[in-house]
Amino acid sequence: MIKAVTGTKDILYPEILRWKYLEDTVARIFNNFNYKEIRTPVFEETALFARGIGEETEIVGKEMYTLVDKSEMSITLKPEMTAAVVRAFIEHSLGKQQPLSKLYYIAPMFRQERPQAGRLRQFHQFGAEAIGSVSPMLDVEMIQMIYDILLALGLSDLTVKINSLGVPSSRESYKKILRSYLKDKKDKLSEDSRKRYDINILRIFDSKVESDKKILENAPMLLEHLDKESAQEFEIVKTLLHDADIPFEVDPGLVRGLDYYTRTTFEIDSGKVGSQSALCGGGRYDLLIEQLGGSPTPGVGFAAGIERILLACENEKSLKIQEEKLDLYIVRIDRELTSRVFRIAVNSRRANLSVDFDYLDRSVKAQMREANKLNAKFVLFIGGEEYGKGKANLKNMSTGEQQLINMNDMDILVKLIK
Ligand code: HAM
Repeated sequence: MIKAVTGTKDILYPEILRWKYLEDTVARIFNNFNYKEIRTPVFEETALFARGIGEETEIVGKEMYTLVDKSEMSITLKPEMTAAVVRAFIEHSLGKQQPLSKLYYIAPMFRQERPQAGRLRQFHQFGAEAIGSVSPMLDVEMIQMIYDILLALGLSDLTVKINSLGVPSSRESYKKILRSYLKDKKDKLSEDSRKRYDINILRIFDSKVESDKKILENAPMLLEHLDKESAQEFEIVKTLLHDADIPFEVDPGLVRGLDYYTRTTFEIDSGKVGSQSALCGGGRYDLLIEQLGGSPTPGVGFAAGIERILLACENEKSLKIQEEKLDLYIVRIDRELTSRVFRIAVNSRRANLSVDFDYLDRSVKAQMREANKLNAKFVLFIGGEEYGKGKANLKNMSTGEQQLINMNDMDILVKLIK
């Protein structure tokens, strides 16, 4: 038997109701902030992600689903959206149409990671990107949008963590300071961190290994070595977060796994989802647009993992979503009335009622069981004595009330049910 590929998932009813509720909430809140939806292709030229996310990152180095197509082009299933949105921004000259583009998305992403709770190979993100302004108000707008979405989904065990990664020049001089601090401790670092020491030293702060954490306890931090302007910006971000009533922690070790960030970065963790606790991550990327061939334009954004958020909702029991109800179930009492039942269904569906009936030649009792299972609001009985008199019995399933309706006046049926 062929099964879904490891790290991928089917989303079935009624689980899909939670997805739809989340998607509606997300769209509503993005709309409140005047963000417009963007959809980009599922795959892009590999070079976009290699250049955008950074050759040295784990995503590009180890996790991308890349293939060479029949025209010998290397394409990659998108592991994240920011590079793709920036590509579209440049390609369609969105910056010329309006000085600030506020865009949002909900889409599947692909990363070949080791699957575990909250970590999949095809997962889904929603997120937003604001391209065209350096205003720290947008940094805080991003945090507010995702924070408000998480609150609207009923989550409460949340920690907002913020940091500033400064600009490349201050970061480069800081890396030297960190390198010299760790130089004589390098042998004691875990194998992964030793590799990171050489390739991407900031990522050492992501290590979950206790002995690494101990070594890093007294390490000099980037936040203490920011350039003046980044430090000032960071203060403004903190003030605006207070204004927006968003509790936060400054986490100087928050370095993020993508190379495009400058200045503000943030994540929101849930205390209810185990080790993969980051529900979202984001930050400013003022150099990315230029790096991908556009004219220098600042940007900021975030993305959140839908599966992780829904896991948090499940563990906090925060979403109480009722299963769908069917407007009408038609019970066929006499077998020869099949086409009559069919015609009523045709018309009432066209009148915008959700309607179902039996396709399996089941007994009346079995049809009633099905009506209950489908949470039918009304059941219409076609057949028996009433039918001979040109009537049908309509039962309101919540009150138990029954009423005879004229078979020639099906309009009344729609009125009674709606
Ligand atoms: P990211 O931190 O790589 O950032 O991913 C954002 C969120 O996607 C994570 O916090 C997590 O909830 C979810 N996520 C990531 N990988 C997986 C996985 N394998 N399985 C399940 N969920 C996952 C970005 O993607 C950036 N593009 C965010 C951004 C937008 N920065 C600026 N603009």
